Amino acid sequence: MKALLTAGGHGTRLRPITNALNKHLIPIANKPMLVYAIEKIVNAGIKEIGIVINPGDKELSRVLGDGKKWKAKITYIEQIGGALGLGHVIKISESFINKEPFLFYLGDNIILGELKDFVRQFKKGNDNCLLALSQVRDPQRFGVPVIKDGKIVKVEEKPSHPKSNFAVTGIYFYDHHIFEAVKKIKPSSRGELEISDAHTYLISQGYQVGYNEITGWWKDTGKPEDLLEASQLMLSRISRSFDESIIPSSAGIQGNVIIGKNTKILENTLIRGPVIIGENCVIGNSYVGPYTSIGDNAEIYHAEIENSIIFDYVDIRAEVRIVDSILGRNAQITPVHKTLPHGHKMIIGENSIMEL
Ligand code: G1P
Repeated sequence: MKALLTAGGHGTRLRPITNALNKHLIPIANKPMLVYAIEKIVNAGIKEIGIVINPGDKELSRVLGDGKKWKAKITYIEQIGGALGLGHVIKISESFINKEPFLFYLGDNIILGELKDFVRQFKKGNDNCLLALSQVRDPQRFGVPVIKDGKIVKVEEKPSHPKSNFAVTGIYFYDHHIFEAVKKIKPSSRGELEISDAHTYLISQGYQVGYNEITGWWKDTGKPEDLLEASQLMLSRISRSFDESIIPSSAGIQGNVIIGKNTKILENTLIRGPVIIGENCVIGNSYVGPYTSIGDNAEIYHAEIENSIIFDYVDIRAEVRIVDSILGRNAQITPVHKTLPHGHKMIIGENSIMEL
């Protein structure tokens, strides 16, 4: 069995973070989002992974390499023609899949549980397609199955009046019949080959479309608040790990905290876990509170931070309390200068959000 993993698109709802970084590389508990997907795929026993990327993208292969790190083989597939829908992603990957059954995994989906049971169910059963469903409060944001007498009879993409409270998650299992489906369906009104239309096509042609519910947490990380929630969840699973001898007596480290190599915790600092701090950081006279991750080479003085994702090389030197925030690489927060004119001086990227 192979796996096909999506890592293209523009992450428009996560701008300005995604202006400079592929959405799938955003760090969640200091690990690129896509690495969680790769780990789940490898844990399910799949070693050949195709990653579909934007044309010309070099960032993904630079960060993830050829897959050896996970004892897997990664092939990068450029989505020539651009973002024309998930059906198009499958269509262009036909030669990579080469008639084998495969797991199709949307790289911005994060799950807590494992996929082994789904793989077993798909391999043992007669399904041509197996969908992983999850109960949600807002099904109109997703592909929604219409279920009658325990069978999916149709899948509707982002319906305004959903007929069930299940979302079709971004985890799908297929045999080669999916290639017939994505060739037969027509683009939707938004100009995309919708994956839900491919599923409805399979059903209409009499192919077996089975389903199972994902147990445990599942999230499609489209918006900033989804990233913070995913981060909370991953941080709640870390254990305490750092060299206690580097902590000065006036500093306190409470709960599950990970501190990377060469990071200095200075006087009058309180770190209250779960918190992960990368390598080569300096943190002094500050409070770093629960559900915060700080990347490498960050410097933080006089600040209070909670429930936030702080990227590499962030520099904070102001007496501020930062909560529920995402600070991209190299972001700087400096104190207001006493000199005239008074006021907040900013260089803020497109679509930035500030609550002052
Ligand atoms: C896509 C699919 C949708 C599915 C969702 C899961 O939506 O079109 O059917 O429920 O992924 O993450 P998108 O996130 O591209 O809007």
